Amino acid sequence: MITFDLTLGRLRPWREGDEDSLTHHASNRRIWNNVRDFFPYPYTPRDAHSWVRSNKSYQQPNNLAVEVDGQAVGNIGFTVKDDIYRYNAEIGYWLSEEYWGRGIMTEAVPIMTDYIFSNFQVNRIFACVLEGNIGSMRVLESAGYRHEAIHKKAAVKNNQYLDEHVFAILRAERG
Ligand SMILES: CC(C)(COP(=O)(O)OP(=O)(O)OC[C@H]1O[C@@H](n2cnc3c(N)ncnc32)[C@H](O)[C@@H]1OP(=O)(O)O)[C@@H](O)C(=O)NCCC(=O)NCCS
Repeated sequence: MITFDLTLGRLRPWREGDEDSLTHHASNRRIWNNVRDFFPYPYTPRDAHSWVRSNKSYQQPNNLAVEVDGQAVGNIGFTVKDDIYRYNAEIGYWLSEEYWGRGIMTEAVPIMTDYIFSNFQVNRIFACVLEGNIGSMRVLESAGYRHEAIHKKAAVKNNQYLDEHVFAILRAERG
């Protein structure tokens, strides 16, 4: 089983039994405000069941649970793009508000970045951050991602157009 130790916990595959904790920690408007709309709000037990069902028991999972105090309190994962973008992976993550500001994602993003480059045919990893999400931008900068672009008013959230900041790192830059 793939696991990576963190100072305050670990990254490990999603598994049955995570549903209650996932529902509790993911159902938060302040998380939802910074992620895509397909992330549910409110986050129901049904959402948690379908997430765990579709993410458990892969040999090389695309999504890993962030476990702190024995509970799944966040996710970090990626999707590989297709066609002429097939060597690109988009990384994404969220963490329970109860654990914000303790350096957990600063530790998790470099681990996930190395995991992707080591195990998948990916040459570039990128992340899209909505304007104002300073914490996420800092996490990416600390992990060596470059601030590549600002897509002006590319996203809509809460009926407001928002800038999208693109951060990226190439395999050759990861050293
Ligand atoms: C973004 C998020 C993952 C950050 O995780 P975290 O574990 O709290 O981040 P860290 O504790 O590692 O902090 C990273 C840096 O950002 C800073 N930071 C964290 N939250 C901040 C905030 N709200 N405002 C300003 N700075 C912030 C920290 O001080 C730290 O700075 P440093 O590198 O200079 O020391 C978390 O806040 C979250 O889940 N937010 C909602 C979902 C989300 O935004 N997902 C990412 C979408 S792109």
